[in-house]
Amino acid sequence: MVLSDRTDVHVTTTMKAISQDRPGGPEVLRVIEKERPTAGPAEILVRVQAAGVNPTDWKTRTRGFFYHDETPPFTVGFDVAGVVEEVGPGVTVLAPGDEVFGMPRFPRPAGAYAEYVTGPARHFARRPGGLDAVHAAALPLAGLTAWQALVDTAGVGPGQRVLVHAAAGGVGHLAVQIAKARGAHVIGTASAAKHEFLRGLGADELVDYRTQDFAEVVGDVDVVLDTLGGEVTERSLRTLRAGGTLVSIIPPAGFDSSLMPRRDGVRVTWMLVEPDRAGLTELAALVDDKQLEVVVDSTFALAAAADAHRLGEAGRTTGKIVLEVSG
Ligand SMILES: NC(=O)c1ccc[n+]([C@@H]2O[C@H](COP(=O)([O-])OP(=O)(O)OC[C@H]3O[C@@H](n4cnc5c(N)ncnc54)[C@H](OP(=O)(O)O)[C@@H]3O)[C@@H](O)[C@H]2O)c1
Repeated sequence: MVLSDRTDVHVTTTMKAISQDRPGGPEVLRVIEKERPTAGPAEILVRVQAAGVNPTDWKTRTRGFFYHDETPPFTVGFDVAGVVEEVGPGVTVLAPGDEVFGMPRFPRPAGAYAEYVTGPARHFARRPGGLDAVHAAALPLAGLTAWQALVDTAGVGPGQRVLVHAAAGGVGHLAVQIAKARGAHVIGTASAAKHEFLRGLGADELVDYRTQDFAEVVGDVDVVLDTLGGEVTERSLRTLRAGGTLVSIIPPAGFDSSLMPRRDGVRVTWMLVEPDRAGLTELAALVDDKQLEVVVDSTFALAAAADAHRLGEAGRTTGKIVLEVSG
């Protein structure tokens, strides 16, 4: 669409975005031109510089949105870092030109694999000064998951023993550092090649899950962050001390918590991450204090989103994958 009737001025209101017409493999992701969204009341419009890639993106690509009947065509993606382009009526906390990061609307569609997104202003926060857009886009969903699980749900504190599964992954590498920043003793599971990396992030003990049963060698744990589910949840229960907590981020069948494995004397719960300005601000403070390093495994152009998904779905990344959208 062209707003001006002057022939020499073309103000486009369209944008590039990734879209899919049907559920399926990475090949369903393609670039389209679509109408740029506008900020509604209490919302901001963000020009996206980078979009983080998360497992929930390929799960959505394959199966649709969790909890919501959103039929294709739709645009996947939740994590963004960018610049506020416009603010809607009533927004007081952000202004055009502010550099922000966030995970708007989750688990409703956010459409983050695009040149522009909108979202409630308070689903974003100012991006930490020490992070470029790529690293800021890697942080919201994985970082908030780790923060909300360890701090808000389990209340991790000094001296506690915390077991983080898939410690080298997107959630795991941030969880290791958040637990360390809370004064905990951190045990991680990862393949041996990633142990040195994790020691560099502060992990105290590491278990090579490929050669050792962590449940045989880890015990007296206060908090388990379960990023894997299934039989890992069952075995993790054996590592907990009486009164300990297991927080799983893998939903039980039908999202029914009563179907989770149990053990007397320990708390077992699953958790779904929420948009959270306060949590983003806490994460930004940890970054500014140099207590939290965001590790990016690989970057891809927006148009190469399918390749980003192929890499992510292989399940071996260290840290995060990010799409570079604009400068
Ligand atoms: N409920 C929620 O709100 C929520 C939020 C965020 C994520 N999640 C879910 O949490 C899961 C993890 O997300 P993520 O972003 O951290 O994934 P990710 O970055 O894709 O995880 C990749 C990592 O997993 C490790 N890994 C794979 N199998 C392992 C095993 N058996 N033991 C230990 N490590 C293993 C790999 O290390 P190796 O190469 O060493 O195997 C790799 O470093 C996903 O299923 C995601 O959908 C849920």
